[in-house]
Amino acid sequence: MEKRESFSSRLGFILISAGCAIGLGNVWRFPYITGKYGGAAFVVIYLISLVILGLPIMVMEFSVGRASRRSAARSFHVLEPKNTKWHLLSYPAMAGNYLLMMFYTTVAGWMLAYIVKMLRGEFTGLTPDEVGGVFNEMLAQPGPMTFWMVVVVLVCFGICGMGLQNGVERITKVMMVALFFILILLCIRSVTLPGAGEGIRFYLVPDFGKIEEYGWFEVVYAAMGQSFFTLSLGIGAMAIFGSYISRDHALTGESVRICCLDTTVALLSGLVIFPACFAFNVNPGEGPGLVFVTLPNIFNQMAGGRIFGALFFLFMSFAALSTVIAVFENIISFGIDLFGWTRTKSTLVNLVLILILSLPCVFGFNVLSGFAPLGEGTTIQDLEDFIVSNNLLPLGSVGYLLFCTSRYGWGWKNFIQEADAGKGLKFPKWARWYVTYILPLIVLFILVMSYIQKFGA
Ligand code: PHE
Repeated sequence: MEKRESFSSRLGFILISAGCAIGLGNVWRFPYITGKYGGAAFVVIYLISLVILGLPIMVMEFSVGRASRRSAARSFHVLEPKNTKWHLLSYPAMAGNYLLMMFYTTVAGWMLAYIVKMLRGEFTGLTPDEVGGVFNEMLAQPGPMTFWMVVVVLVCFGICGMGLQNGVERITKVMMVALFFILILLCIRSVTLPGAGEGIRFYLVPDFGKIEEYGWFEVVYAAMGQSFFTLSLGIGAMAIFGSYISRDHALTGESVRICCLDTTVALLSGLVIFPACFAFNVNPGEGPGLVFVTLPNIFNQMAGGRIFGALFFLFMSFAALSTVIAVFENIISFGIDLFGWTRTKSTLVNLVLILILSLPCVFGFNVLSGFAPLGEGTTIQDLEDFIVSNNLLPLGSVGYLLFCTSRYGWGWKNFIQEADAGKGLKFPKWARWYVTYILPLIVLFILVMSYIQKFGA
């Protein structure tokens, strides 16, 4: 008898992977980085980088996961040729998962805090400046911020610890669809605001002259970092989902789907934020607070804005929490794979660890705000984000890349066999030359040049 495709589990895989990819990277990081680097021209470079750098690497991560059936902690050990050292790649990958969570939990906490603020009508009647003030006030108070961060960590570890995969899957599905619809609604409200035109131009009409201000390498570097960040690449976060699926579908096709979903959400959130920024005179280069000082203004201008606002931050929190849960899954599996701990033990140990590790980011905005690691006005969060997004993710991606293409590693033949197993879009043959010789050089070149630009001279 022919085996029927199990639809729900495939959909589950795509949604869980999309749930890991779609998160704060799309709705929080993408708009503020785009705003900082001048808008449309940055978006163009970002889109190119998604396709030529991100997509092939996603296929590779899934392949490594599916072939090894392990998390990043053990996958290289299983696949590497005898007497090689590829398994050393597992350490930066694991470190990356922890470092990412060290600031992600704080921002996810902001989202939760904003659900409550919206519900209580804290923004009603405020001017755009005062709305910005609410955000800064929140940053200044370590207590409530710690509280929300702790809520995020407890809820997510709780869910992982119970192994409530199905529940998570179901909730995520509903929330993602809801997020999508509310984003479309907000787009419509935002682009029809008086004064929105300038924002639409900023976001959609490229002005490459603006890039000169920052220097090409810095901008391209930022676009590359953002594309790896938004697709969750380089630290094995996606690889682990490859380890849960069957060989029914070719991995290139699955990756294209996930990239499209992820990019749609990012582009939509830009279309919400930038018209509103210009309509309310918010500086698009504002930084990590951008979404939080822009969105409540839009809701103030909408009928039923309080409810829509609360719902938006609720859906957004779910997108963020689905990412946190995915990464916690990874982190918990490290303990299980490496030390043979039980799921419960690994959950408890990591719960405590992540709680402590998340504190510096929270305090970086208030008690420790004197510490500006990357120059004036920067915070501990900027430093953690820089280490992850601009270093560990691209370097880890190059690690996966070399592992899959080098004959001293897992090798092209094994990779392509795994990637192409199943129905659907296959990895193009001509791309072998490109991913083997060109792609790693592009990434390394951008890294080195931007380092020289940033820290040299
Ligand atoms: N892609 C996630 C987001 O956009 C962040 C992430 C990065 C998750 C790297 C895992 C690994 O929010």
